[in-house]
Amino acid sequence: MRKEIVFYLNGAKHRVGNEHAGLMLSDYLRYEKCLTGTKVVCAEGDCGACSVLKYSPIQSDSKTYLSFNSCVTPVATLDGSSIITVDALSEKESLHEAQRAMVDCHGSQCGFCTPGFVMALAGLVDEKLEKSENKMDEQEAKNFMTGNLCRCTGYDAIIDSALNIDLSKCERLEQRFYSTEQDKDLNKVIDESVLIETADYRFFAPITIEEACLYKEAHPDVVIIASSTDLGVVHNKRRTKLVNLLSLHLIKDLYKISDDEKRIKIGSRVTMHDLRDFIKGGNEEFATYLDIFASPQIKNIATIAGNIATASPIGDTAPVLLSLDATLHLVSKNGRRDVPMSEFFLDYRKTELKADEIIEAISFLKIDGDFIKSYKSSNRKDLDISTVNLSLFVGKDKSDIRIAAGGIAATPLRLKATEEHLKKNEINAKTINEAIVILHTEFKPLTDVRGSSAYRHMLVENYFKRAMSEYLEVSRD
Ligand code: FES
Ligand code: FES
Repeated sequence: MRKEIVFYLNGAKHRVGNEHAGLMLSDYLRYEKCLTGTKVVCAEGDCGACSVLKYSPIQSDSKTYLSFNSCVTPVATLDGSSIITVDALSEKESLHEAQRAMVDCHGSQCGFCTPGFVMALAGLVDEKLEKSENKMDEQEAKNFMTGNLCRCTGYDAIIDSALNIDLSKCERLEQRFYSTEQDKDLNKVIDESVLIETADYRFFAPITIEEACLYKEAHPDVVIIASSTDLGVVHNKRRTKLVNLLSLHLIKDLYKISDDEKRIKIGSRVTMHDLRDFIKGGNEEFATYLDIFASPQIKNIATIAGNIATASPIGDTAPVLLSLDATLHLVSKNGRRDVPMSEFFLDYRKTELKADEIIEAISFLKIDGDFIKSYKSSNRKDLDISTVNLSLFVGKDKSDIRIAAGGIAATPLRLKATEEHLKKNEINAKTINEAIVILHTEFKPLTDVRGSSAYRHMLVENYFKRAMSEYLEVSRD
């Protein structure tokens, strides 16, 4: 059993023991390593100033470095990874293309946000080189920088900088930061469970699901931590302390995505980023919906299972997965059981997950000639919490209809009476109007800072109408 966290930072091996494992990476970099290029502004994963890059061999063999927010990421969760900070990005006198472009296009004024933008762009460059793409696309660059905020330059100059990057002059980051020895070493590291323990801090990461189940049974109060994009914010706001943690990051099987003719199954360590890559081209609607789910920095590390386990009534993936008839595959020391997602959410932040259980995987329908539309409404288009989200699925033989929404009750909700009405009747303008009357009887939303109850009713009705009108259009073709 390892007693220290091991990762590589800018190509050099770091071992972190008891005293620093619980620090957020940004604090570790700035205060313990004097790597002050990484800035902290919001400390809640919103502004991107703290962006750094990470590659984890257990997650993929692509050797692509992806950006993430170091302000909400505890050092312990980076065990087994290779990390790059802005401090090491330029090589001697030669700037990285992202840095050169920011200088040439005047993409910086006070400069506080600049390291974050540079790292987000360096991550985009690395992904594009991995896919052998040789051109920067404007919309893609805009999407990629939704996780970075600037208060003084204005975004035009920064977008110009992104488009000015000459990919032919860039090299894969692995060539500078990831050696064969590092790969061998990290692969050895991730083959051994790790336990960090002090009087007031405990972090355990096993390498098998069996070990995890035994531990969960023995420590029912332990908090399962994935990427900590939610817990890290709560921790930084000093509303809770992350002191008793179980991480599943060393369990290889949990990173798997598999599919058969009908369904896709994702392990509980699968990130939004990896799921999006997998479903793109198959379930374009879900993939596009994920574009407006949080920032790339969050999607690169946040897991679908984490988004479901937090049981937020406005969690963005829940309505889509409910409409896709998702099932949660749970495991404990006593065995495995499957729970339909429609039975998983019990009350506000309460789920069917028992104290000794762990989400092992989630499976959901594959789109095969079926109709699906998913919407999200928030005050800002990108990187914002939903007021209401809704997803509607109509199977190709029409006997299978599911409508689910978030932000309208204490839990994400299936609108089953409305579904039934549509299933029993031919779908046309008349039955859609009848369904709208039923729809409004199925929920009583709260009024809060994000919207009034009446506004939420109106959003749900409008999304429903829009989805049904698109369905009629498609089914006429
Ligand atoms: Fe704002 Fe980390 S400091 S996202
Ligand atoms: Fe000042 Fe962006 S350059 S915040």
